[in-house]
Amino acid sequence: MEIIQSSKDGMEIGRSSSYGRGLLGMLLSETQKKREGFSYSLDLVMDECKTFFFAGHETSALLLTWTVMLLATNPSWQERARAEVAQVCGDDLPSPEHLPKLTLLNMIINESLRLYPPATLLPRIAFEDIKLGELHIPKGVSMWIPVLAIHHDEAIWGKDVHEFNPERFAGRSCVHARQHFLPFASGPRNCVGQAYAMMEAKIILAMLLSSFSFTISKNYRHAPVNVLTLKPKYGVPVYLRPLKHQT
Ligand code: HEM
Repeated sequence: MEIIQSSKDGMEIGRSSSYGRGLLGMLLSETQKKREGFSYSLDLVMDECKTFFFAGHETSALLLTWTVMLLATNPSWQERARAEVAQVCGDDLPSPEHLPKLTLLNMIINESLRLYPPATLLPRIAFEDIKLGELHIPKGVSMWIPVLAIHHDEAIWGKDVHEFNPERFAGRSCVHARQHFLPFASGPRNCVGQAYAMMEAKIILAMLLSSFSFTISKNYRHAPVNVLTLKPKYGVPVYLRPLKHQT
């Protein structure tokens, strides 16, 4: 509330000429627009902020946590990803031009999202009678789409379903990726932050890989718990070893 108020005050006393181009600025400028039958109140702005925080913070942190665990326990993939980062970025920080070229890293992130989707269930309610394939779903029925179960279905992904195999996302080889890979949901209400989350994960992992090698701690206990999101019950302790001497 304090941040919102200081942004509004800045405009009102003429210190700034707009609310700015950030997400909060864009939401606040909506409160100034007059529309028929709908006004964007400050309460709605606060609700949107909470949604973005809830939807974007823990999910992204969990993606990074599980991916670091997978890289720490699969040293050959860690090496391959590091070599790709070195080849694409050299000594530079990852830039927007580099990101699409980090294809191995993309495969690794996708495989991490398949094995450990941060959002494990998608709740839906039928607002009208619908027919879904052979299923008749009456109005009012509440459904849960079990993302975690779909991502771990041997009939879809094959015998190595529980193994870490980023190769399944290579090129166009993953025929199921479009239908059965749902870490960001699908359709008109899918994740609005998907592209941002993938970009953020790639940048952070590329920077981590180029600065440190990491191994899993002996204290690590593999205990994913599924409470709305998929969390490691005892955390993911890793050892980081710097790769270059810092000056
Ligand atoms: C790895 C990171 C992320 C994952 C796995 C993820 C996953 C999801 C999923 C599965 C949904 C759909 C929920 C449903 O339909 O029931 C969703 C919706 C949403 N996500 Fe994300 N998300 C991530 C990151 C982000 C980020 C970084 C932001 C914001 C910057 C964000 C903002 C949102 C919002 C606002 C919605 C609601 C969209 C709507 O209802 O129209 N998410 N996310």
